[in-house]
Amino acid sequence: MAAKRKKVAPVRDLNLEWEKRTLDSVAFTYRRFPIAMVRGKGAWVWDANGKKYLDFLAGVAVNCLGHAHPVVTKAIREQAGRLVQISNYFHIPSQTELAEEIEKRSFTGRVFFCNSGTEANEGAIKLARKWGMEHGGRYEIVSTSNSFHGRTVGSLSMTGQTKYAEGFGPLLPGIRFVPFNNAAALAEAVTEKTCAVALEPVQGEGGVVVPGRDYLKRVKEICRGKGALLIVDEIQAGMGRTGTLFSYEQMGYEPDIMTLAKGLGGGVPIGAICARKEVMETLGPGTHGSTFGGNPLATATALAVIREVSKPSLLANVRKQGDRIRSFFRKLQAGAGAGLISDIRGMGLLIGIEVTREGPEIVKRALELGLIANCTAGNVIRLVPPLNITSKEADTACRILQKAMGL
Ligand SMILES: Cc1ncc(COP(=O)(O)O)c(C=O)c1O
Repeated sequence: MAAKRKKVAPVRDLNLEWEKRTLDSVAFTYRRFPIAMVRGKGAWVWDANGKKYLDFLAGVAVNCLGHAHPVVTKAIREQAGRLVQISNYFHIPSQTELAEEIEKRSFTGRVFFCNSGTEANEGAIKLARKWGMEHGGRYEIVSTSNSFHGRTVGSLSMTGQTKYAEGFGPLLPGIRFVPFNNAAALAEAVTEKTCAVALEPVQGEGGVVVPGRDYLKRVKEICRGKGALLIVDEIQAGMGRTGTLFSYEQMGYEPDIMTLAKGLGGGVPIGAICARKEVMETLGPGTHGSTFGGNPLATATALAVIREVSKPSLLANVRKQGDRIRSFFRKLQAGAGAGLISDIRGMGLLIGIEVTREGPEIVKRALELGLIANCTAGNVIRLVPPLNITSKEADTACRILQKAMGL
């Protein structure tokens, strides 16, 4: 008699099941990895099948304190049980406190809150144009090539990479582009019609490009000389990412307008337009608004986040781990990685490792090996981990990436 076989239930691939359902229901505007993420703790996340990954993308430079940080979780929980949304027809204490906190720590005198990076940049364009109209009828904005400022039409018009705008024209008129990191070209482009110069102090999506030492100081002088405002988009480079709360602090100048989002809410959507008091006073009641902007949930969370991120020990960790990772890859570049690694760039934990080939494949292999990173501007592997990673986590990520590079 044949022995009875035990029935084994087929193993469900939950990642695959989610992939099928997503493709059947969600707009196909992102090429996604075939993985569904369900849980996170610190710098680690788990997929639907239970596999663990070291997250060096952090929601694309958003989860500055990692996943499920107790300070963030507590702020969300407490505020969710008290008041989530109320209109801007009322004063919102956490909104006021967050504005005060940003003002205490920056050049800013007034803050307008919104919900994302692109919305912050849209508002900055409106603010600069209205200010310009009141200062001699200025309306032109000078932006830089290779920049990224967001996906809505105004921000897209200011973005110096044509691929993002294909098929969506005509875009906003009155925007000129000059090469990034070229003060002479900028000086020529800024005229008495210019209301503002807008740029990222470190280009993120454009391939982690850090400008020369005095570039931003020069940009500010040019703006001042021609009576134009300087808008800096600190959406990716701000909130501790480069080792100071805002990256401009390390570059010897102060902007007139700064936009924030990404790390500001530690994962909860929030954006901000921060400006000198006299500049923001251009916008009076009814000139700009946002239903959700600055709501109690987002601002109470961001308040907890900014207090945590501003701690000198956390900012010191950003510099330390950034240097550690860059020096690992510099050593690799000097040795086995000589033909593959062409450049290592960045400030703090905004890191770009440029390779001569196969950037997207390296990222894919790293993912299989348990490390999340991404590839931008062709062949630049970008690492933007949580700001509180440990040396051990930094080393683990470096070793996985080295292996994924085949080195
Ligand atoms: C510098 C910069 N500005 C603006 C944005 C747009 O932000 P959001 O995606 O929140 O609209 C991004 C997003 O990557 C960015 O890196």
